[in-house]
Amino acid sequence: MWSSWERRTDKIAKITVIGAGNVGATCAQRIVEKAYADVVLLDIIEGLPQGKALDILESSPIINFNSRVTGTNDYRDTAGSDVVVITSGLGRKPGMSREDLLLANRDIVSAVVRNVVSHSPDCIIIMVTNPVDAMTYLALRISSFPSYRVFGLSGVLDSARLRTFVAAALNVPVADVAVYVLGEHGKNMIVIPRLCTVKGTPITRLLPPDRVNKLVERTVNAGAEVIGLLKAGGAFYAPSAAVAQMVESVVLDKKQVLPCAAYLNGEYGFRDTVIGVPVKLGKQGIEEIIELDLTSEEKARLASSAEAVRELIRAMKLG
Ligand code: LAC
Repeated sequence: MWSSWERRTDKIAKITVIGAGNVGATCAQRIVEKAYADVVLLDIIEGLPQGKALDILESSPIINFNSRVTGTNDYRDTAGSDVVVITSGLGRKPGMSREDLLLANRDIVSAVVRNVVSHSPDCIIIMVTNPVDAMTYLALRISSFPSYRVFGLSGVLDSARLRTFVAAALNVPVADVAVYVLGEHGKNMIVIPRLCTVKGTPITRLLPPDRVNKLVERTVNAGAEVIGLLKAGGAFYAPSAAVAQMVESVVLDKKQVLPCAAYLNGEYGFRDTVIGVPVKLGKQGIEEIIELDLTSEEKARLASSAEAVRELIRAMKLG
């Protein structure tokens, strides 16, 4: 009677999320709820990804999505993924910088990337593990993927935070606030207030300099502000929303211009490093790196941010 019933006839995308902590599980939830992809959630802890995936799946009749989310401890279940989001690794505790995580997460991420690549040799990797610029570089080196297929979460999140604060300060809709936060996802992130606009007007013309500086400062410290409040664990609602936007631009080939941690080979005058810049994301991954017109002072700031990432890359001793 039901034999002709086909749940779906079209092939939908397969997204794997590695790491079933708060960031990973919330990424899986946000992605599967949009119903354009099936999601595999993988973690080394037995039962954790299975339990979270089952719980998310049981929300499907209420939210109304027919895509599937499954949990696993076995990389074979991730085979043939279109996009793999990597969130595994240690997170920051209060008082820790993202850089404090470098060497521990280098080893975790190296092993994860090897497993990912052997089961999904054609995937696009989106790095979330911190320090994200260095981890993106590491994933690129270990995977030997072309650089357009490996990039990291940074500016979408940092820009969303600034947009939130600006919208509240000026009492305008968040959608009217535009900005690209550039550079390292860390204390060396580059917020350029003249490039933060409300319907085209820079915030430097809408707010006095001390208020602008406070908004910038709050953005740079926004991750730590949440950690300080939560005490255990870091932010995950905004980070997972940012990842979901990046995944969606790739899978649905939306070609949105989003600031991401991207490998530069000459763009902005940097070679062989990863730093946050605006990129166009479509089904190939990074389809274009957008070079903004920066003043010489802004270029110098970006250069010192790039140097901070280089130091982390050197400290990983990748040989
Ligand atoms: C944060 C983490 C994702 O900024 O780095 O909250």
